[in-house]
Amino acid sequence: MKIRKEGDCLLGGKNVAIIGAGVMGRGIAYVFANAGFQTTIVDIDEKVLNDAEREIDRLLIQLVNRGKISLEQMNERKRNLTFTKNLQDACKNVDLVIEAVPEKLEIKKQVFRNLDQFTPSHCILATNTSTMSPTEIGSVTKRPNQVVAMHFFNPVHKMKLVEIAKGLETSEETVRMVKNFAEKIGKEPVVIHEFPGFITSRMSALIGNEAFFMLQEGVATPEEIDKAIKIGLNFPMGPFELADLVGLDTRLNNLKYLHEKLGEKYRPAPLLEQYVAAGWLGRKTGRGVYDYSDKGK
Ligand SMILES: NC(=O)c1ccc[n+]([C@@H]2O[C@H](COP(=O)([O-])OP(=O)(O)OC[C@H]3O[C@@H](n4cnc5c(N)ncnc54)[C@H](O)[C@@H]3O)[C@@H](O)[C@H]2O)c1
Repeated sequence: MKIRKEGDCLLGGKNVAIIGAGVMGRGIAYVFANAGFQTTIVDIDEKVLNDAEREIDRLLIQLVNRGKISLEQMNERKRNLTFTKNLQDACKNVDLVIEAVPEKLEIKKQVFRNLDQFTPSHCILATNTSTMSPTEIGSVTKRPNQVVAMHFFNPVHKMKLVEIAKGLETSEETVRMVKNFAEKIGKEPVVIHEFPGFITSRMSALIGNEAFFMLQEGVATPEEIDKAIKIGLNFPMGPFELADLVGLDTRLNNLKYLHEKLGEKYRPAPLLEQYVAAGWLGRKTGRGVYDYSDKGK
């Protein structure tokens, strides 16, 4: 007789919801739908949902044009996706929820209060936070043992890593299950204990911030700084190309949190604050460190 371990039902879990359809949420939804999961994507903003659907369609058409999937497979993947503003409906029958709303603790906590209320009791609640504590986010729920950070990278369909950060009460069972979800969508998980910024954001926020200080000091142009870092340090992208892809507002929120938790070395560069104040948020607004208004960079 096969003995079922607690949580085995989740290992076959097929229903996921992604909360937030911005830069990250749409990418996470795309990889789950591609891997055959019934994927519901929720946002409070109708326009963002429409943009997300268009972008996912574009990625799927690219796969067809490159001969990676057939038209029938593309349609099947599209059928795996539901776009909605209704959180409560999205949470029915889900096995895993991944939250990808802005990097602001109060917004995340409110989402988790609602998720705790609307999702089935077996469901795992994951946050795609880049820096924050799953313990603190999970503290507003009645299931902190089922709350974990699942940190994806941008662009999600290209980047293999998922950092899984355990909170104080996150159970080993929860970690085993989210690792399994990550592997099923073709990602490479690393499991860590929570600490502000985990491994990757702790490092990349510093590098990105330093680049803004250099620009502010007039050391070189953005192009020269990006070129030096790519060719000299063998980075695949320059710090400004990456900041524009990530979103300058998201990068600033990460730095503010890390500054509060880890001190002075993470104080955001004034130039970064100025760009965000001007609405220069990167690719998503057509203007960041670089201008994307009439050409893709
Ligand atoms: N941008 C990156 O490169 C990157 C990489 C890794 C992790 N992250 C993390 O992912 C999270 C999301 O970042 P992003 O860059 O996708 O942000 P984003 O601003 O592009 O998208 C956030 C989306 O959340 C929506 N939203 C806000 N409140 C909501 C609510 N209550 N319910 C549903 N939707 C809501 C917004 O309308 C917006 O569309 C953040 O925690 C960020 O730190 C970002």
